Amino acid sequence: MHEDTYDVAALRAHFPQLADGTAYFDGPGGTQTPDVVADAVRDALLAPLSNRGALTQAARNADALTVAAREAMGDLLGVGPDQVAFGRSATELTFQLARTLSQSWAPGDEVVVTRLDHDANIRPWVLAAEAVGAVVRWVPFDPATGELDPADVAAALGPRTRLVAVTGASNLIGTMPDLPAVAAAAHTAGALVHVDAVHLAAHSPVDLAATGADSLVCSPYKFLGPHCGVLTATPDLLESLRPDKLLPSSDAVPERFELGTLPYELLAGTTAAVDLLASLAPAGPGGADRRERLRTAMHLVEQHEDRLRARIEQGLLDLGLTVRSRAARRTPTLLATSDQRPAADLAVALADAGVNAPAGHFYALEASRWLGLGDDGGLRVGVAPYTDDGDVDRLLDALADALR
Ligand SMILES: Cc1ncc(COP(=O)(O)O)c(C=O)c1O
Repeated sequence: MHEDTYDVAALRAHFPQLADGTAYFDGPGGTQTPDVVADAVRDALLAPLSNRGALTQAARNADALTVAAREAMGDLLGVGPDQVAFGRSATELTFQLARTLSQSWAPGDEVVVTRLDHDANIRPWVLAAEAVGAVVRWVPFDPATGELDPADVAAALGPRTRLVAVTGASNLIGTMPDLPAVAAAAHTAGALVHVDAVHLAAHSPVDLAATGADSLVCSPYKFLGPHCGVLTATPDLLESLRPDKLLPSSDAVPERFELGTLPYELLAGTTAAVDLLASLAPAGPGGADRRERLRTAMHLVEQHEDRLRARIEQGLLDLGLTVRSRAARRTPTLLATSDQRPAADLAVALADAGVNAPAGHFYALEASRWLGLGDDGGLRVGVAPYTDDGDVDRLLDALADALR
């Protein structure tokens, strides 16, 4: 018997969606939402709420929700609250950042993107580069091992490189590139580094400074929170950038990066999600602060998920599937294909058996093609903090049935 790293059953009790026995392996697309997050969203909306301000209770509530969410995400990402900007989604925030950064790019400048990335960390940069006549350099990964070699990033750098966009973890095959090595090479060349941490932040502790990145995005709905996006960056970068803004809107950091009125109820939900994650770690005798607890909690999540991932991986291999997730450091996200049945068929059979594990390229289109899987991709099995051994049993039994 194994020891759970945290009380998984207690965590599962927060998710009414799990009550009917459905096994959710589609977390990389978005996790299920716990009751505390839904309650926080509801409570925010049913309390007095208006635009941020100090005059009325409604205005003060909006302000307090915003301040609290910046602190919560700051704790999760190892940055100060003033380094946290919210937006509609990571995709939107990346498009905005690309538009802003590219204001200073010139024809002949270079931008580096990777074949491993989700399109949300490719197309915004490619389009921004094209708009100013900058050159796009593509970094490959090894389809056999799933590894992205920092030396290949270094080889794509030159004196005109302005930016390197790299994923913190692949949402298709889980690969976690060596971000500090990538960032060190990019910085030596004088380039900025932007990290897509949407998949990473759901599975590992993240610390902006430790990654070496200048900017990073993630999405709370991938880690038990509501559907919004988060951008963080170094204070220097945030201060130096001038995003398009409305004339009367705030020019302060981080507000200058936020277009229009914030979704206060989603910010409330984001804070609740971060607090729930932090609660997975013991409070400790001295009452560890939330940042410390989050770091511990995400390590515990990593251990729990990795144990289940190993079980699933062995089960998939035993069933004769080909597992494409092979990098030495990776998230518990397994992409598998079968010689017997198309992945899309397997996903249908699983869904019929109450097991949610979809098939496709999941917008990591370049990666799917680079793996030789074309636009079909594969069956993606993702582990979430609420996944348990019973879910894994259901998955493997249903797959065995589908392949019989
Ligand atoms: C790795 C990765 N990057 C970016 C995104 C896009 O995130 P959002 O939906 O917040 O735009 C996703 C969503 O699946 C993702 O998995």
